[in-house]
Amino acid sequence: MTLLEIFPSLRSGMPSTRVDTAVWPCETHYDALGRIAIGGIALADIADQYGTPTYVLNETEVRDRCRAYRRHFPEAEIIYAAKALLTKSVAGWITGEGLSIDVCSGGELAIALAAGIDPRRIVLHGSGKPFAELEAAVAAGVGRIVIDSLTEITLLSALVSRTQQVLLRLSPDIDVHGHPAVKTGVADQKFGFPLGSAEADEAIERVLRQPALDLVGFHCHLGSQIHNPDHYGEAVRRLVAEMARVRDEFGAMPTQLDLGGGHAVAYRSGDAEMNLYELADIIEDALDAACARNRFPRPRISLEPGRAIVARAGVTLYRVMTIKHIEGGRTFVIVDGGMNDNPRVALYGARYDAVVANRHPTGPQMTATVAGRYCEAGDILAADVRLPADLRPGEIIAVPCTGAYHHSLASSYNGVGRPPLIGVREGRSRELVRRETAADLLARDLG
Ligand code: LLP
Repeated sequence: MTLLEIFPSLRSGMPSTRVDTAVWPCETHYDALGRIAIGGIALADIADQYGTPTYVLNETEVRDRCRAYRRHFPEAEIIYAAKALLTKSVAGWITGEGLSIDVCSGGELAIALAAGIDPRRIVLHGSGKPFAELEAAVAAGVGRIVIDSLTEITLLSALVSRTQQVLLRLSPDIDVHGHPAVKTGVADQKFGFPLGSAEADEAIERVLRQPALDLVGFHCHLGSQIHNPDHYGEAVRRLVAEMARVRDEFGAMPTQLDLGGGHAVAYRSGDAEMNLYELADIIEDALDAACARNRFPRPRISLEPGRAIVARAGVTLYRVMTIKHIEGGRTFVIVDGGMNDNPRVALYGARYDAVVANRHPTGPQMTATVAGRYCEAGDILAADVRLPADLRPGEIIAVPCTGAYHHSLASSYNGVGRPPLIGVREGRSRELVRRETAADLLARDLG
């Protein structure tokens, strides 16, 4: 027996290979039993209390990330992209930290309004906004609407009675070389108008012709998981030049430039993430140069991070159901969740770490693939991870960096309800969203 096994509390001060702070919430530590804990609560206790699978969300980490953005971009407006994760509590934390919020549907709008968010701090997005949702947004008095199509201009014109601020979404044709499913800045994709196209000019003209629509600026969103900040510098250069052209050719004076989101996070130890110092410097330099070159006054910059605010705050807990050693093949650790609560592996080929959370393993390890319980061979959570060789059914597996696009992408495939979301902060846990039950599924089934 080692000294650490006799005195596990010695570990709390030790650097750990299990919990890399680039991937886990800031309040992650070990408790006296060597179990992984967040904000003073052992993940194994959360699993026992609320069941599994369960999403855990560290409020402190979310707030810290909001503060980091405010610190690095003191003059910019930070607009949280709610599609990453939205509940009433999360909306409250984030706006409480001074961020605005972007919603992309009537449902997200309803949650933000139910959270008591000032509608003027809400921005509405969407590539195919239904009339009823535009109507609800206008009626609620949302601050800005990002126009994505010519049709929308017609619908909005029919709807608004008092002045509505709008931005126009442009695609600046910048290829960030991301996964095709989340590549949005190139010209040939469904969002917005290609920058400099006849259709973009037509949209500008039509908006300017509507006295109730106030074209305050332009928007672009380059894609997801971008770690090279130079792409944002290029976007600033192209869009400021466009803003100057719109001033010269249309006599308008746009003052806002929304650069979208897409800042990369590290899903696994060693993954590259967006460096906010560098991003701030590059945007600043590009703005200085582009505004001087085009003799254009500095626009107000907005950024729309979603993932970078909430991803690392989230950890998903699973219970091991069974372990299968396939002769001549892989070892599968099958857990009680999977692609329903994390479809990102199947959708984007995302890779995750997985660790055992209910003890500090010290013995030999095995290479295993953590797979889900659903009826598809592609239902994989973490391929080729190192787990204790003596792992047993009933133990708790934690998958970090699951705060963004997990709860919001979850489904109830195979008739399995979606997991609860448990907020953790300073030694307290509370259900932010409860587990979806069979009764919930039946409530929608009208027979
Ligand atoms: N702004 C706009 C207009 C967006 O469309 C998005 C994301 C964001 C901001 C925030 O991007 P973020 O900072 O979170 O990368 N389900 C995919 C991600 C799809 C993102 C769609 N738009 C995933 O799980 O990776």
